[in-house]
Amino acid sequence: MVRETDVTTSHLVYPLFIEAGLHGRQPISSMPGQDRLGIGALKDEAKSLAALKVPAVLLFGLPAGKDEQGSGAWARDGIVQQSVACLKDANPELLVIGDVCLCEYTSHGHCGLLTPSGEVDNDRSLPLIAETAVSLAEAGCDIIAPSDMMDGRVAAIRAALDSGGFATTPILSYAAKFASAFYGPFREAADSAPAFGDRRGYQMDPANSRMAMDEVLTDLDEGADMVMVKPALPYLDVLRQVRDAVDVPVAAYNVSGEYSMIMAAIQNGWLDEARAIDETLTSIRRAGADIIITYHAKQFAARQ
Ligand code: PBG
Repeated sequence: MVRETDVTTSHLVYPLFIEAGLHGRQPISSMPGQDRLGIGALKDEAKSLAALKVPAVLLFGLPAGKDEQGSGAWARDGIVQQSVACLKDANPELLVIGDVCLCEYTSHGHCGLLTPSGEVDNDRSLPLIAETAVSLAEAGCDIIAPSDMMDGRVAAIRAALDSGGFATTPILSYAAKFASAFYGPFREAADSAPAFGDRRGYQMDPANSRMAMDEVLTDLDEGADMVMVKPALPYLDVLRQVRDAVDVPVAAYNVSGEYSMIMAAIQNGWLDEARAIDETLTSIRRAGADIIITYHAKQFAARQ
């Protein structure tokens, strides 16, 4: 009754990795308990999420082929675009969030197009990012979540969604996204490690929290409906600052490395599973998150 902070399954979003051409499921070795799913595995997955009352998923795709531009990201028959209908057929209540980025689809693994000298070309990437957002909305995604971090992407996506007939589709922007070591396991899961260089040119320096606030306010100005802080645990201070500064819903992404770290310790018998997960999710809620994107969603839900 007097507990200040609650965590319920209704706060959680579960990320899914969907791989073209995969039959069934393929365990992700760096993320114990998580699998890549083939299209054929989505029906069962959607039903199990319904039974657990997990309300939402965030979709990442592993395409059959990659190219310089990342054309699989906006293909009308792309892997994520095809998946939305399968999930909704099996679980009509499921809220489906589409991650918008090119890194899983480009041969070089960067989040946008490259210039001839190998730099990310922010402005030429924007129309492709916007096109990806529209294709996901057409496929039935309820929320569009750009994670690419190109400058001006929220405005470009908002304009494209509006003119594409999706004026009411909300944008959840990865607003404060830090260049983090904790994305390591994700890059195996989504096969999206950059072939050269790193993402420090377009993701934020972990040392800068004022700049994070700037990014959040810019994204809201450009039309974001919700904002995200990512990763969660090493940035709970940033999450609190964002929560205090804005009135829109705030999401936190409890990322792959945060998950793998806890799961490795649990598997070694060094941490108690239920207590470690509950305390982690409680801390993220206490810092101000309305929504938590977490690979622990099903484990947590199964205990409710
Ligand atoms: C793509 C993207 C990444 C994550 C979400 N979207 C990887 C990255 O930026 O390198 C990481 C999520 C996680 O670690 O769980 N841009």
